[in-house]
Amino acid sequence: MVRSARVFFFAICLCLLCSVPLFAGTGPVLVQGALEMEVSTLVKSLADPEEIVIDGWTFWRGRVADRDVVVSRTGTGSINAAAATLLAIREFLPACIINQGTAGGYAPDLDLWDIVLGERVVNAASVVVEYRDRGEGLDVTEWSISEEFHRTVFQSDGALLGVALSKGQDYDKGRVVKGTLFSCDRWSKEQDYLDHWHRTEGAMAEEMESAASAGIAAHYNVPFLAVRVISSNQTAGVAWDMQKAGEIAVAGQLFVLEIIKALP
Ligand code: 5AD
Repeated sequence: MVRSARVFFFAICLCLLCSVPLFAGTGPVLVQGALEMEVSTLVKSLADPEEIVIDGWTFWRGRVADRDVVVSRTGTGSINAAAATLLAIREFLPACIINQGTAGGYAPDLDLWDIVLGERVVNAASVVVEYRDRGEGLDVTEWSISEEFHRTVFQSDGALLGVALSKGQDYDKGRVVKGTLFSCDRWSKEQDYLDHWHRTEGAMAEEMESAASAGIAAHYNVPFLAVRVISSNQTAGVAWDMQKAGEIAVAGQLFVLEIIKALP
């Protein structure tokens, strides 16, 4: 009897252990941006900032409204984003991750300064393509997103999304909407490509880091939120302008600071 009670106890412990995240982070809010212009406003907002460089990736630890925050400059693209996210999770055990920055619109009605919250974040590189013979060319309308080989589609955390949506009501530079972010190392300008993914996947905007970051966050069960501010929109004929993008990136960071202050 005592022995079977012991076996039962250990079985329960094993089940519990298997169901908890690898890291139950109670640490800081980790906020990521790829480029200097996408983190500088955040870094300036930190109280008592401390710069930490790990293997070439830079982090700044400090406080925003008495909350521990780590700002991470990930560098551009999915490889950098994945590496910086993994390093940050191991080093800081963040309670949650906010990946933010600029993005290009796929939805014609998105204006500059509008913000897309990545309720759904898709690895846009993970496509399957129909067979075509040599000389037959390419047809993007035959392409589809596939999870055949690995996980491709990620979600922002519902509670973080709720906070961001409620702060969106105070954002006065544009609209704040939730939807699908299309994310891989690509800068797309072909209208047929943009239209296809807008139609089939509901892609709202394109950028290069959020899927990689979301994938690592999902592996460690760290709640994740993607926040992207529209800095160009090919489908509406609005081209990228570096100076304008810099101003828009500041607005995105100020919005993220409001989210951080409103976190429970
Ligand atoms: N396509 C891809 N990446 C974009 N970025 C901003 N707009 C776009 C776009 N239309 C962001 C990426 C990357 C940097 C080059 O700018 O996320 O960090």
